[in-house]
Amino acid sequence: MIKKLYRKIFAKFYDSFMTSFEAKIEDDRKNMLNKLNGVVLDVGSGTGINFKFFNDQVKVFAVEPSKPMLNKSIPKIENKNIELINLEINNKKLHSILKENSLDAIISTLVLCTIPNPELALENFKKWLKPNGKLIVLEHIHSDKKIKAIVENIVNPFWKIIGDGCNLNRHTDELIKEKGFIAKEESYFTLGMRIHKAEYSIKI
Ligand SMILES: C[S@@+](CC[C@H](N)C(=O)[O-])C[C@H]1O[C@@H](n2cnc3c(N)ncnc32)[C@H](O)[C@@H]1O
Repeated sequence: MIKKLYRKIFAKFYDSFMTSFEAKIEDDRKNMLNKLNGVVLDVGSGTGINFKFFNDQVKVFAVEPSKPMLNKSIPKIENKNIELINLEINNKKLHSILKENSLDAIISTLVLCTIPNPELALENFKKWLKPNGKLIVLEHIHSDKKIKAIVENIVNPFWKIIGDGCNLNRHTDELIKEKGFIAKEESYFTLGMRIHKAEYSIKI
């Protein structure tokens, strides 16, 4: 009941809260997404912020556990081939929809910070990707500056509450590599938080 209400409020204010941050990463999203083809998975698609960057040829599975977030994304589908799935990424039911070696790309933007079991999600990504498929990530990670990293650790328990489970102090870039993904392109920049942008493959 409280979770339901919280999700409604979070979804209502999410886009306005993110406006200035989004303006700064819009070109990054565009460049990462507009050349994709085939079948792709948009993990934790939220309010559908990535949808406008997909071209008309691509088939997108947009997986999002929050119904209010998913509902906000519906108008952004327009005439694109985007199928919404109201499940969390590690839900076993997803394996009957997404077959092994079936995806050309997986998009994970600002979501590995929140997923409760990112290790399992990355294992699933490897199963679903075709051998030449790619994982595209845009994520905020723990600061590499000592003082800032300590502050992020202190603030994290409160941030998690207001941010629907979002963590400020994950080393997602390291985790992805530990799980066997190979970075083809990667960069780091700071927008208040340390941001990691990368494209990975599963084989050299
Ligand atoms: C910060 S928002 C980012 C939304 C979108 N990917 C973007 O780039 O703006 C994080 C999203 O991840 C979703 N999420 C949280 N836990 C998840 C999970 N276990 N599986 C899939 N999505 C999840 C949340 O509901 C939320 O919509």
